[in-house]
Amino acid sequence: MDRRDFIKQSALATAGLTILPAGSLFADTTKVRLGYIGVGLRGRNHIQEGLLRDDVEIVAICDTQESSLQYCREQFKKAGKKLPSEYTGGLDAYKKLLDRKDIDAVIIATPWQFHHSQAIDAMKAGKYVGCEVVAGLSVDDHWDIVKTSEQTGVPYMTLENVCYRRDVLAALNMVRKGLFGEIIHLQGGYQHNLRGVLFNDGKHFYGHGVEYGPNALSEAQWRTQFNIDRNADIYPTHGAGPLMHYANINYGNRFTNLVSFSSKSKGLNTYIEETSPGHPNAKINFKNGDVTTTMINCANGETILLTHDCHLPRPYSLGFRVQGTEGIWMDLNESVYINYKSKDDEWDPSKKWFEQYDHPLWAKYADKASGAGHGGMDYFVFNAFVEAVKRKGPTPIDVYDSVTMSVITPLSEKSIATGNQPQEFPDFTKGKWKDRKSTFALDDSGL
Ligand SMILES: NC(=O)c1ccc[n+]([C@@H]2O[C@H](COP(=O)([O-])OP(=O)(O)OC[C@H]3O[C@@H](n4cnc5c(N)ncnc54)[C@H](O)[C@@H]3O)[C@@H](O)[C@H]2O)c1
Repeated sequence: MDRRDFIKQSALATAGLTILPAGSLFADTTKVRLGYIGVGLRGRNHIQEGLLRDDVEIVAICDTQESSLQYCREQFKKAGKKLPSEYTGGLDAYKKLLDRKDIDAVIIATPWQFHHSQAIDAMKAGKYVGCEVVAGLSVDDHWDIVKTSEQTGVPYMTLENVCYRRDVLAALNMVRKGLFGEIIHLQGGYQHNLRGVLFNDGKHFYGHGVEYGPNALSEAQWRTQFNIDRNADIYPTHGAGPLMHYANINYGNRFTNLVSFSSKSKGLNTYIEETSPGHPNAKINFKNGDVTTTMINCANGETILLTHDCHLPRPYSLGFRVQGTEGIWMDLNESVYINYKSKDDEWDPSKKWFEQYDHPLWAKYADKASGAGHGGMDYFVFNAFVEAVKRKGPTPIDVYDSVTMSVITPLSEKSIATGNQPQEFPDFTKGKWKDRKSTFALDDSGL
């Protein structure tokens, strides 16, 4: 079977027609040759993961900014690894990287507006795609990603690292073992004070400066503009990714519709005024509300509450809640309650349960993950992608899962813009959700 056949086979599996067996028939131990498009802060996290592995060769990198390329070169030198080929010089430079025949897969970590076209071109060039959130900006963009993956047979994976967080996976283990009973209601979101990321002085984060655009550093160069232009849950996947696994979304269940609400917007203006009194940026009219709340209905009757809350002073918490007929986990108070097993009306520390139900992937790979970004979960998401490419099989978060968690942004935008009207979710699987079987976190190679 040549590479093209392998990829076609994997596309069939992705479509739910065949599921490759765990520990796969197609296992292949050769190196994965990676190209990176975008080596800013996040791209370099993934570079770091790649540099630590013997089964990964980073062949080429592409970025439009010399400063990002320079940081990246330092990483390679520090690791004692051969410098990759570089592609730069314009927004289309990545196309030259895609022309190379010696690249199996690409990691895309560019600003959101570029993901859709870069991923489509990569799939057309036969390269596996591991793309950071988001898959596209409009609903049509998401359909394009699905159609291209189906037509080319090339897998696409959103690199949603929170799906692999240790407590998130322990809770999934408990869900799959039935500890919470039948799942009824889920909550989560992106709840993190990002004001010092969205505004900075071009050199440092948090508390240094109130600039955005070309004079700023990293995400303030581009992400801040989305808060000016869009009123939506602009980053749904940290919450939706894990919640989809708890509710088996796209695997016997699906999101049917959502409704979104947006609060007024004060947090970013307040931050600017407090950090640099009298600065004109404090007068910007941010379209995006400070707290965006989205309710999602599922075909099997569960409800999901998703929150985007990144503009107000607050400690980090993604606010997960998993609740079923037999129990509940909440991450904010780090507590679990299981009917008849916990003392009546008393929370148990979640640690007690999560140590017992630590997910087998964490039990096996915690040492390798220690020191990796975001508490170790960056190791897992990168590893899962690399292992999928190595075996030329499906990715554990596949194209349908990826677009489902990402399309929440344009749907929530439409709901808010139309006075909180419900928006139907597209069925990207075209009915296949009924019979598909999830392979997420079920293979001991880490997929
Ligand atoms: N999962 C996580 O924990 C996490 C954390 C941070 C960022 N992210 C995601 O990663 C992505 C990148 O974010 P970041 O923080 O690295 O931003 P960043 O601004 O630090 O990096 C983006 C890089 O892309 C480069 N770039 C811009 N346009 C390009 C183009 N057309 N071709 C090639 N390179 C281009 C920029 O020069 C920059 O180096 C986003 O999707 C973001 O949401 C995810």
